[in-house]
Amino acid sequence: MGMRLQGLRVAVTGGARGIGRATAAALAASGARVVIGDIDDEAVAVTAAQLTDTTGAEVIGFRLDVRDPESFEKFLDLAEAGLGGLDVLVNNAGIMPTGSFLEESMDTADRQVDINLRGVIIGSKFAARRFAARRSGHIVNVASILGLVATPDIATYAATKFGVVGLSSALHQELAQFDVRVSTICPAFVNTQLIAGLSPNRITRLIGFVEPEDVARAVVAALVRRRGGLRVVPRIGGFAIALLTSMPEALRIRVGRSLGSHDTVSKADMTQRALYLERADRN
Ligand SMILES: NC(=O)c1ccc[n+]([C@@H]2O[C@H](COP(=O)([O-])OP(=O)(O)OC[C@H]3O[C@@H](n4cnc5c(N)ncnc54)[C@H](O)[C@@H]3O)[C@@H](O)[C@H]2O)c1
Repeated sequence: MGMRLQGLRVAVTGGARGIGRATAAALAASGARVVIGDIDDEAVAVTAAQLTDTTGAEVIGFRLDVRDPESFEKFLDLAEAGLGGLDVLVNNAGIMPTGSFLEESMDTADRQVDINLRGVIIGSKFAARRFAARRSGHIVNVASILGLVATPDIATYAATKFGVVGLSSALHQELAQFDVRVSTICPAFVNTQLIAGLSPNRITRLIGFVEPEDVARAVVAALVRRRGGLRVVPRIGGFAIALLTSMPEALRIRVGRSLGSHDTVSKADMTQRALYLERADRN
């Protein structure tokens, strides 16, 4: 990757596994100094040690619950103390407990709002205050293509991701006057445990399926170019989303249904998905 981010001080939420872990690894490999936070304190310690081993750069792991403002403020304090300051916050932590809205418990709905949306509001606010005071910094929010186009059986999750897209777009504009950049990354389907058992249609498999490392590369690119704004990963999936969102809703729904994207969740293999759902429900 080269040392394109030499010395940049970055904190990544949800960094114990998946996209957060790959992002932390890519950042460290690009010369950044990285702190990861995660609700899973055992996994975050193991991942920090492994990334320190494999990247040769010291990666520090802390327990973090993005739902808790006190925990978040403390995490940012620890990151600043450990790194001698902070230049970037990547708000990546999130859960995706798919299924019918009628059957979804209120607790499961609340958890998604608290982690996926409120957690990003908390992180963005606390980081923005610190960054604006110093007139520099970059906030990267990991949303989803489900924050741009919604499909059935994933309503509350889509609501939280539409929320993150709106928040980030507003902040991208509002914080520019303080020289604080805000990026929104909207991944399609990323090969992590979060999508275990789901049944993406053929076109999604073709143009919307990526590895965590691909999302990590997009984060690194946004930081290298010092550019805010929204980016879909992969880019080609972004063209499909742009096309879909330009359609009247009735047409978009017909197209989505005929492509099979409405069955992604309803046709999921629930035995394969059980392990993820159990973990997403745990902490
Ligand atoms: N995998 C995909 O297809 C996909 C697509 C689009 C967007 N996303 C988004 O990317 C982000 C990362 O997803 P992933 O696929 O890597 O999932 P993952 O489950 O592999 O990793 C998510 C991490 O977040 C942590 N986390 C959960 N609740 C937390 C909390 N309250 N505080 C701190 N950490 C917490 C988990 O412990 C886990 O380590 C999520 O926001 C997800 O919605 C994923």
